[in-house]
Amino acid sequence: MTMFLKTYLPCAVAATLVLTVLPGFAQSSKAAANAKVDLSARLIEAEANTALAAELAIKGRRAAAVCANCHGEGGNSVKPDIPNLAGQNPTYLLEQMRQFADGRRRFDFMEGMIKAMSPDEKVGAVLFYAAQPVITAPAKNAALAAKGKTYYDKICFRCHGSDGKGNNAFARIAGQQSVYLTATIKNYRGGTGGRTNPLMADNTRHMTDADIEAVVAYVSSMK
Ligand code: HEC
Ligand code: HEC
Repeated sequence: MTMFLKTYLPCAVAATLVLTVLPGFAQSSKAAANAKVDLSARLIEAEANTALAAELAIKGRRAAAVCANCHGEGGNSVKPDIPNLAGQNPTYLLEQMRQFADGRRRFDFMEGMIKAMSPDEKVGAVLFYAAQPVITAPAKNAALAAKGKTYYDKICFRCHGSDGKGNNAFARIAGQQSVYLTATIKNYRGGTGGRTNPLMADNTRHMTDADIEAVVAYVSSMK
């Protein structure tokens, strides 16, 4: 029945129908209704409405209190294997949360927490994180970082920007945690770890481990 409704009716209408016509399904369809809210449209709405954005950011910040255990206060992680969320592009963050929630990207502990967030909490959390400044440290090995900059300025800048801040379509990588960066780039290169992306696969295929080490030294120190 729900499959039928999902297939043949616009999502929002189907969710409402299931909720009102089939009270027995109310519990599970509340989650279904949440899943059907168009998060991208809600984000665009909030970005065009300062008062709504502020209201959602407060909600999101509250919901994100538990996230600070790993991602740090204000999304500045203090663990090199856990990514910063601070300063990240909201569209990218929201898409990753969607991927965790629907199982395309896997990290067991997070999946459950993200599924438990309401649509407005998710949109609010990404607005909150996007507005937080990223804390960066200068490169420990300046010569290695300089080598990485040469590589970065040939390849990576095309999508992530010369300043590493990306844009609405591409992730910010400037100032990202080093161990996380290394693991993520290697995952894209090898098609491992449940992270696949054709653009990143193409652009990491020819990287040696030494290239990755240099690029990470540079990127993690970018402000
Ligand atoms: C137990 C530690 C932990 C907690 C708590 C946690 N996360 Fe994460 N989070 C991680 C790890 C580890 C990764 C990286 C997973 C990977 O390598 O793909 C991650 C990745 C992410 C990403 C993707 C970042 C990127 O740059 O692609 C988002 C978004 C995210 N978490 C949001 C949240 C939110 C929102 C919460 C709170 C509801 C939360 N996390 C709580 C450990 C945690
Ligand atoms: C043609 C465009 C393109 C180029 C060039 C490119 N990237 Fe990406 N990059 C992307 C896209 C798209 C994503 C998001 C993929 C996803 O959803 O998993 C991404 C994601 C990433 C991430 C994950 C960010 C996070 O928070 O998890 C890292 C790290 C990264 N790129 C590093 C690099 C590096 C280093 C280079 C240069 C060697 C590079 N990229 C070149 C398009 C590109």
